[in-house]
Amino acid sequence: MPAKRKPASKRRAVRKPASRGRLKAARPSKPKTPLVRPRKASGPAAQAPQQLSPPIQLMQMLTGFMVSRSICAAAELGIADKLVRGPLYYTELAKAIGANQKTLHRLMRALSSLGVFAEVKPGTYALTPLSELLRSDVPGSMKHMAEMMTTPSHWLPWGRFDEAVMHGISAADKALGKDVFSYYAENPEESRVFNAAMSNFSAMSAGAIAKAYDFRNFERIIDVGGGHGFLLSTVLRHAPQAQGVLYDLPQVVQGAGEHFADIKDRVRVIGGDFFKAAPDGGDAYLLKHIIHDWDDERCVKILSNIANVMHPEGRVLVCELIVPNEPGPHFSHVMDLNMLAMTPGGCERTEEHFADLFKAAGLKLAGITAPQSPVNVIEAIKA
Ligand SMILES: C[S@@+](CC[C@H](N)C(=O)[O-])C[C@H]1O[C@@H](n2cnc3c(N)ncnc32)[C@H](O)[C@@H]1O
Repeated sequence: MPAKRKPASKRRAVRKPASRGRLKAARPSKPKTPLVRPRKASGPAAQAPQQLSPPIQLMQMLTGFMVSRSICAAAELGIADKLVRGPLYYTELAKAIGANQKTLHRLMRALSSLGVFAEVKPGTYALTPLSELLRSDVPGSMKHMAEMMTTPSHWLPWGRFDEAVMHGISAADKALGKDVFSYYAENPEESRVFNAAMSNFSAMSAGAIAKAYDFRNFERIIDVGGGHGFLLSTVLRHAPQAQGVLYDLPQVVQGAGEHFADIKDRVRVIGGDFFKAAPDGGDAYLLKHIIHDWDDERCVKILSNIANVMHPEGRVLVCELIVPNEPGPHFSHVMDLNMLAMTPGGCERTEEHFADLFKAAGLKLAGITAPQSPVNVIEAIKA
């Protein structure tokens, strides 16, 4: 059985600053001709943000979606994979991906000016630590995340974001005519990209979660809404004694498997609806980025379904951002807006808000573990 943990009031983990695993800088292979010295940056973009005048700062923010869209285009075109063997002149790169030479050159020049690629000599482009992450075959790849950001499932709702703010409704419901998960059920290709993007997202925090929280005393770990099981597989590798259950919608779990190749015999995959039931008898229930997708009422339903069937000494482990009570910059605030755009009533929550949800579901907040990642492990036990 899991080791007893102190209640939240006595066991408030110190929140460490968010950090991401570092990847080695990509070393472009040495060009035969000497490199042109990188031009010294000049103009507004070369100054620290706080030195920029308000119109320039605002203009940078306003053009943020153009940057985002350009990075997504580079991911969709698979440019990073073509640069793995070394820098390429833009005409060769265009040939390799079948793109228009002049327009590809413009994209590469712009993204290089932002550090996503590097222009190692005029017209020749190389990978940087940022574009390394747009490769399809590296640990920590964010290629699918980049692709997902501009699929219609995300792009269209964000185009109607003002309506969500104005009327307190989900922009996805407006733009897609249904909630986003029903939309994915009808659009398998976009659903594939979404599930792969969620695995990319999980890769940013799963290792840190598995290290920070001690899973070694659990026998049956159930990942509710576990997608393709990236987190569950990572946790099971840190908890060799445990069996795992991956639980998600039937059409989602049927695509799972790639993350379990070496631990197949320890994992059961179950398709189902977490609003109807949860697999029983678990002593740990993982819920990563599930609670933030739904309004309070539906969260209480999901949590109650778990509370009804969990082992009496079991733990519910909600892995989410926590909105700080103090004002100031925090990743959770923009993600909260993404929830407003994309989900039926979802939001990011404060610690107190989580405690209220647990209470309404017959649970109580037992502790918070802050791994070296923006995602916290918010632990609840039976009330
Ligand atoms: C934001 S994703 C998180 C996936 C995964 N936990 C992760 O962190 O990578 C939400 C997940 O909830 C699943 N989901 C949505 N509605 C569901 C339902 N009614 N029953 C079970 N799973 C559901 C989705 O298929 C998706 O995998």
